[in-house]
Amino acid sequence: MSKKIKLGVVGDPIDHSLSPLIHSKFGAMNGMEIDYQPFHVVQKDLIAFVKDFFNNGGHGLNITLPHKLNCVRAADILSSEVELLGAANTLSKNQDEQIIASSTDGLGFIRDCSDKNIEISNKRVLILGAGGASQSIIPAIARMNPAKLMVDNRSPNKISILLKKFSSFSLERFERNDEPIDLLINATSAALSGPFDWDIQNQLNQETIFYDLSYGKASKKFFSWSSQFSKNRFDGTGMLIAQAAFSFQLWFDTFPDISNIDLSNVND
Ligand code: ATR
Repeated sequence: MSKKIKLGVVGDPIDHSLSPLIHSKFGAMNGMEIDYQPFHVVQKDLIAFVKDFFNNGGHGLNITLPHKLNCVRAADILSSEVELLGAANTLSKNQDEQIIASSTDGLGFIRDCSDKNIEISNKRVLILGAGGASQSIIPAIARMNPAKLMVDNRSPNKISILLKKFSSFSLERFERNDEPIDLLINATSAALSGPFDWDIQNQLNQETIFYDLSYGKASKKFFSWSSQFSKNRFDGTGMLIAQAAFSFQLWFDTFPDISNIDLSNVND
């Protein structure tokens, strides 16, 4: 009798996660019997839940908000990216039953940019936001050798913290001047609290590419703001699928075909 491979995603809340759908598509495409469940786990139960899951035959977990930082404490081994970020989104197990923490968000972002022909090398890139979402993509973008990688944030003190944390990369504080921005990435949760607006009009134009790390309805306010400058816009659906594919690869050593994963009907 074949036993399904136990996988899941852990968060609080977890109801709207698209990961179960994405991974069940990957599993079906690869002829695998997977059982990928959403797990609602509160912070105080997180470490015990993770250990329990792997002790009871679990094969892999994705970790989402608000547990990306804390889950690292459940791991025996940290990937170099997790060492750098202090956060993880994927847990797997090695042959010695040790839990390994990895982060696939940065890889997912870069892969989606590549799939969409969004160039990063030699481009001027500005990230809005200094929280976990912003941090998760900074090293991966920096490795692509942008002409400039800048960050701006509502609270300036958090920019200083970020510059220190990523001092081995050439990350800069955003300066208002007349140099155009090629790629503007929204990594804030500003859209949750009203219309989106950011004081950078002079440096945006019709060539600027606008990329929102959130997706579906959550991107609408950023896009209605960006439409006064440019038609070039992308939401984070592609990154979501690509980061999931990199998790799948960590668990099964195979990168699923992501070219035909369509979430357009479900990502609101
Ligand atoms: P995440 O893990 O999604 O990045 P986070 O760590 O809470 O979430 O970070 C949220 C980011 O959105 C922060 O950069 C925050 O700015 P502050 O550091 O000033 O709090 C930004 N943000 C949230 N609401 C905002 C708003 N109304 N306007 C501008 N930035 C906002």
